[in-house]
Amino acid sequence: MTRIAVTGAVGRMGTLVIQEAAKVEGMQLVAGLDALGAGKSLPGGILVEDVSRLESVLREIKPDVLIDFTIAKAAVENVITAAALGIDLVVGTTGFSPDQHSRMREAIDGHVAAVISPNFMVGVNLFWKLAAECAAALKDYDYDIEIIEAHHNQKKDAPSGTALATVDAIKKARGETDVVYGRFGVMPRGKEIGVHAVRGGDIVGDHTVLFAGPGERLEIKHQAHSRSAFASGAVRAAQWVVGKDPGIYSMADVLKSR
Ligand SMILES: NC(=O)c1ccc[n+]([C@@H]2O[C@H](COP(=O)([O-])OP(=O)(O)OC[C@H]3O[C@@H](n4cnc5c(N)ncnc54)[C@H](O)[C@@H]3O)[C@@H](O)[C@H]2O)c1
Repeated sequence: MTRIAVTGAVGRMGTLVIQEAAKVEGMQLVAGLDALGAGKSLPGGILVEDVSRLESVLREIKPDVLIDFTIAKAAVENVITAAALGIDLVVGTTGFSPDQHSRMREAIDGHVAAVISPNFMVGVNLFWKLAAECAAALKDYDYDIEIIEAHHNQKKDAPSGTALATVDAIKKARGETDVVYGRFGVMPRGKEIGVHAVRGGDIVGDHTVLFAGPGERLEIKHQAHSRSAFASGAVRAAQWVVGKDPGIYSMADVLKSR
């Protein structure tokens, strides 16, 4: 039995993670915490706890894994608290600064196993691989690279964590490259990767990598239709991560071992 706690339990993603976990045999929700909604009922007779009680709830209930879908600032603190108590982690929250990333790494390394991924969908993990392959294959040709992402109007961070991970994948494939986030005014194009964030309506999450060359263009596109696929990926990561050697893992590690 994998016993899970969820931070961000009443948010869009936390709610779906709890629903998806309830469908999986061998998974049990043992705690749900959020900055809002304390006292609200969750499946299995669990009540939402205020996140200010995170440390005492984790000490008392001892879940196997904490799944976090909150905001970057909160997620760092939640990770530090859980790691200090030896609880493995799945972190889906995005928008971390480099400093926040290193604080999480420091808390995790040598202590617990954590899957940290800005996107838990199977197709996106293939999208990153394809983007890197195309970037490498077209390196010596005259192709400009632009990444365009679109999300719903409630998303707080921009560009998306998935777009930033795409930048990293492309840089790994073709070496250090400048990045330009949006353009305005006189901005002649150089050899940079351009990154553009569209926000509107209820778009779940679209990502396109455009390779534009002389006389043609190639696009790699991923479109998320349903948030549930993020949630089921996170639940799968939670089943996988328990008992792994301490360290930070990616969703690619989870998918590799299917
Ligand atoms: N990795 C993925 O596959 C994936 C997919 C979708 C969204 N996300 C990311 O997940 C995060 C959450 O997205 P969402 O759409 O569910 O947002 P949301 O705003 O619907 O939910 C966030 C929840 O976190 C709660 N919260 C805020 N501070 C908290 C704290 N200190 N402790 C506990 N809870 C706290 C809020 O009250 C809210 O209920 C975002 O960073 C988003 O970009 C990741």
